[in-house]
Amino acid sequence: MKTFYATTPIYYVNDLPHIGHIYTTVVTDVVTRFHRLSGEETRFLTGTDEHGQNIEKAAAAQGITPLQLADRVVERYRELYRTFEIQNDDFIRTTEARHRRGVEALIARIAAAGDFYTDKHEGWYCSSCEAFYTEKELDLEKRCPVHGKLTVWESEENVFFRLSKYAAPLLEHYERHPEFVRPESRLAEVVSFVKGGLNDLSVSRSKVQWGIPFPGHPGHVVYVWLDALANYITALGFGSDDEACYHQFWDHPGAERVHFIGKDILRFHAVYWPAFLLSAGLPLPTTVWAHGWWLRDAKKVSKSVGNVVRPDHLVSDFGADALRYFLLREMAFGQDASFSDEAFLTRFNADLANDLGNTVSRVAALCRQSFGGTPNETCTDNEVRTAFSAVEADWRSAMKECQFNRALEAIWKLLTAINGFVVSREPWKIRKEEGTGSGRLHRVLYAAAEGVRLAAVMLSPFIPVTSRKIFETFALPAADPAGAELDWGGLPLATPMPEAPALFPRVDAAAYFKEKDATMNEPGNPTVFPAAPAAAPANAAATAVPAAPADDRISIEDFQKVRLRTAKIVAAERVPKSNKLIRLEVDLGDERRQIVAGIAAQYEPEALLGRNVVVVTNLKPAKLMGVESNGMVLAASVGEAGVPALLDVPADVPPGSKVK
Ligand code: MSP
Repeated sequence: MKTFYATTPIYYVNDLPHIGHIYTTVVTDVVTRFHRLSGEETRFLTGTDEHGQNIEKAAAAQGITPLQLADRVVERYRELYRTFEIQNDDFIRTTEARHRRGVEALIARIAAAGDFYTDKHEGWYCSSCEAFYTEKELDLEKRCPVHGKLTVWESEENVFFRLSKYAAPLLEHYERHPEFVRPESRLAEVVSFVKGGLNDLSVSRSKVQWGIPFPGHPGHVVYVWLDALANYITALGFGSDDEACYHQFWDHPGAERVHFIGKDILRFHAVYWPAFLLSAGLPLPTTVWAHGWWLRDAKKVSKSVGNVVRPDHLVSDFGADALRYFLLREMAFGQDASFSDEAFLTRFNADLANDLGNTVSRVAALCRQSFGGTPNETCTDNEVRTAFSAVEADWRSAMKECQFNRALEAIWKLLTAINGFVVSREPWKIRKEEGTGSGRLHRVLYAAAEGVRLAAVMLSPFIPVTSRKIFETFALPAADPAGAELDWGGLPLATPMPEAPALFPRVDAAAYFKEKDATMNEPGNPTVFPAAPAAAPANAAATAVPAAPADDRISIEDFQKVRLRTAKIVAAERVPKSNKLIRLEVDLGDERRQIVAGIAAQYEPEALLGRNVVVVTNLKPAKLMGVESNGMVLAASVGEAGVPALLDVPADVPPGSKVK
C-alpha cells in the first residue's frame, strides 16, 4: 500500500512564527491535502526544535526557563495552525520523552556502525545557525553566509561523526535518485558541496547544557541538528515499543517520505541527515524539497535581519485563506519571492474578489434568481466541461510537481471559461424569453454551477475555508469539499440554495493604506507592515522630543518594551544628498547594524568612529533617503533648536551591554 509522509522543518522557539514559517507549513498542508484528495494514506508532521544555545539564551534574556519559553511559542504555533486550518496529524517537540528515546536509538545504531570518535574541535561558529563554517565559506570579516553575523572561533573536545566516509555513498545516492533533492538546481548545489569534500562532523557540545545528554559522554549534549533531524522518525515511534507507524510511513517499500524545507537548511537535510541514516542502516527520505525565501527589501525575512512579517494583521483583516492564496500564488516554488503589502492587495482584489468571488456570486445569483436553487437538468456536453478536462490534467500535474502557482493558474483558466460561457449564452436573456422552466436555461446554469463546484474541489487544498463556503452556497451535501468527487456531474439537482455573502469583498487599497499608515506608528502596534517612509523622523536622533506632560506616565512594562543596548560606531559616512543624515555601522557585540541618524549638522563622520553610544535595537526598520535604518542612536536634544548631543558610554562597557 502506498503511503505519503510529509514534514515541515521543526521551528526554533526563540522566535514567534512569521510568514516564512507559515509558508512552509501551508505548502506542506496543501501537498498533504492533495494526496489525501487523491485517496492516499497520508501523514503530516510539524513541530518545534527546542534545544540548543540560542533557545537557552533567549529564555535567559526573558528571565524564564527554556521550557517555559518553548511552551509559549508552541501555543502560538498551535493557535496559528488552527487559524490557518493546518491539518497536521502530529506535532513533535524535541523536549518530549518519545523524541529523546528515538534520538538515543538512532545514536546507538550509528555508534554500532563505528561512526563516532572523540577529538578536539575547532572552527568558525555561527551561533544563529548553530553550525561551524570553513574559512572559504565566510567573507573577509568572517561573517556567516546565512545571517551575515560575525562568527567566532570555538574550540572544544567533541564527539565526531564520520561524515567523510559517506561522501561517496551520498554521491551515488544522488546519482541513482535524482528526485532526492528538488528542484534540480538545488541538487546541483548539494552535489558540488559533497564533491568539494566532507569533513567529519562534530555532533556533541560540552559548552551547551540545554539538550539531550549524549549517551556515553557525560557532560556532552547531542548537537542540536542531530537531535532535530531525528524528529522525522522519532515522531513516527522509531525507537519505541510500538514502531507500527514508523514502518507504515518510513520503513516500507511503498512509503513516500518528503521533507519540505527552506533553502537555508538544505545541507542539513540533503547531506547530514541522509549520512546519519546511511550509517544507521535506515531508509533515506524520498525527496527533500527546498523552497526559496520570502524577501522584504531584497533580504530574507528573518528575525536576525529584523524585517519580519507576522501574519496576524493580514489574517485579521483579510482572512487566513487570502494569505494562503497569496503565498502559494505569488512564489514560484523553489525561487525567492518578495513580500509586499501592495502585491498582496493587488492579488486580493484582482484574483480573489474579482475573478473568484465574482464568478461564484454571479453563477449562484443566476441560479437562485431563476430557480431558488440548483437547476433541475444536467448538461454533459459544453465548453465548461471541455475546459475542465484540460484544467484538471494541468492542475494534477502541477500539484505533483509542487508548482502551486501553475496549479492555481489552471484553476483560474476554468473560472475564465465559466465566465466566457455565461457571457456567450446570456442566461438572463433565455430566462426573459423562455421563462424559468426553460430546459436550455437549466442546462446552461448547470454547466456553469458544476464548473464552479469543480473549481472549489481543486481549490480545497489551497483555500479550504473558501472552498467550503462555495459548497455551502450551492447547497452541496459534502461537508468537506476535499472528500468530493472530481468528476463532472456531482452537482445535486433542484436543491434550494441559501443566500450567501460575497466571498472576498473588494478592498479600497488607497484607503486601506491610509488607515494603516495612521495606526502604524502608534507605539506598541504590532503591525505586520514595517514602518513606512512617512515614519522616518522617529528614527532620526536629531528629532526634538517635547517634554512629557506630568500625567503622561508609562508602566515599567511599557518602558521595557524598548530594548536599549550599548554599541560601538565602527563606520560612518554622510548619506548622499542629505545635510542631516549620517549612515552609521554599529557593533553590538554579536551583530553589526546599519543605523541612519540625523546628526550630520553637528558631527563629522570621522569624529564618530570608535564612540560608544546607546542604541534602541527593536525599532522596526525604516528607510531614510532610501537608506535602511535598523535602530536609533540616542542623543540628548539641547536647547530650543534641539541640537543633538550623543550620549557617550564609558569605554570599559562592552558593546552589546543592556541599558535599563
Ligand atoms: N530548527 C531548524 C530546522 C530543523 S529541521 C530538522 C530551523 N528552524 S527555523 O525556525 O529557523 O525555521 C527555518 C525554516 O523556516 C526554513 O527552512 C523555512 O522553512 C522557514 N523560513 C524561515 N524564514 C523564511 C523565509 N524568509 N522565507 C521562506 N521560508 C523561511 O531552521
